[in-house]
Amino acid sequence: MIHTMIAPRRLRGIIDLPGDKSISHRAVLLNAIATGAAEVANFLTGADCLSTIACVQALGVRVERHEDTVRVFGAGLRSLREPVDVLDCGNSGTTLRLLTGMLAGQEGIFAVLTGDASLRSRPQQRIVAPLRALGATLDGRDRGNRAPLVVRGAYLHGGAYDLPIASAQVKSALLLAALFGDGTLTLTGRTDGRDHTERMLAAMGATITVDGQTIRLTPPDRPEALHPLSLRVPGDPSSATFWWVAAALHPDAELTTTGVCLNPTRTGALDALRAMGAQIEVANQRVEGGEPVGDVTVRSSSLRGIVIEGALIPRLIDELPVLALAAACAEGETIIRDAQELRVKETDRIATVVAGLTALGAVVEPTEDGMIIAGGGNLRGATLESHGDHRLAMTWAIAGLVGAGETTLHGAEAVDVSYPEFWNVLRRIRE
Ligand code: S3P
Repeated sequence: MIHTMIAPRRLRGIIDLPGDKSISHRAVLLNAIATGAAEVANFLTGADCLSTIACVQALGVRVERHEDTVRVFGAGLRSLREPVDVLDCGNSGTTLRLLTGMLAGQEGIFAVLTGDASLRSRPQQRIVAPLRALGATLDGRDRGNRAPLVVRGAYLHGGAYDLPIASAQVKSALLLAALFGDGTLTLTGRTDGRDHTERMLAAMGATITVDGQTIRLTPPDRPEALHPLSLRVPGDPSSATFWWVAAALHPDAELTTTGVCLNPTRTGALDALRAMGAQIEVANQRVEGGEPVGDVTVRSSSLRGIVIEGALIPRLIDELPVLALAAACAEGETIIRDAQELRVKETDRIATVVAGLTALGAVVEPTEDGMIIAGGGNLRGATLESHGDHRLAMTWAIAGLVGAGETTLHGAEAVDVSYPEFWNVLRRIRE
């Protein structure tokens, strides 16, 4: 699908966000092994989360969906059935990695997990090695580093693991495996990725403690121990960031995003935009689905370059493509470092973002673990590619909303992975 865009005169609107992608996945996966029925409202109906539903159904769990309300009928920790075919995780790393963890300790189950070309190219040793250390029997292409991955459910024991990278998918895969283990799992090191799994497990009655950087999970003593958790999924801050950047960059804009998840492990983009000088107001702060949420309004702003590094990186990792676009339009240089994880996302987002920004007329230099963006650029229209990466498709759409001239985007359908309503919202806020 090809979309052509020119900048509108004004941007105005109130945007009800789709449910958070990470929380939507977890709401289905965890309720699938709870005992009883749960209702999940504002579920993200993007392709990634629909892959999770389909996989869980293939494991014998009853899941019903009516638009963005999903009912999950869990029958306990040991209720999953051996799937009769391979489990297709589509484009979704979260589905593949969390499910692999959840299946690793299901004795008697054999499963093969695969996905699209992008997912099959991404590294899996990060989950396979620590799961094997707990006793898991896993294999895959490239000595277990690439999907298709093969899981033969095994007897798992507890243990300790020092996380070398701040990946919530790795952390969550281990916690889900540990539910089935014989003994406590202790995680230390880079446990600072998003903490939705920990929050949800605690709310469902699991024995999990978080003490600084140390997480401990002791497996339940009964298979029916996890309570179902009904919730309304908060709005996705990663999706909201596209509108925040559009509003900050456009000369006549005011956009409000409602019900944004303000979990501190997810608010790095807000912090970065504030540091760049964006005019941001947060109102109506409350708690929904066990997470802090609020309404965020952003107005036309004059941005300046900053350094984005260190502990901030995991708090905004998915937002870096569109933050790089903001930096290209800001006054002065922006340096992004410590973000080598960008290289193993849906695309190598250092290479793809630098290529797109360069086509738009920005001066950007890739580095091993980030990029250096000169800033001050008046972007010009260009022809851009999503490379099948949803966050790139939306980043280039925002470039089209704020850049001079006409921008043409190839592969625009990639937005369906995380934000199927994206193009409708974009049309509605243009004036
Ligand atoms: C996610 C964790 C992050 C993020 C991804 C979703 C999750 O990945 O980039 O979009 O739901 O746990 P990593 O765990 O690889 O950092």
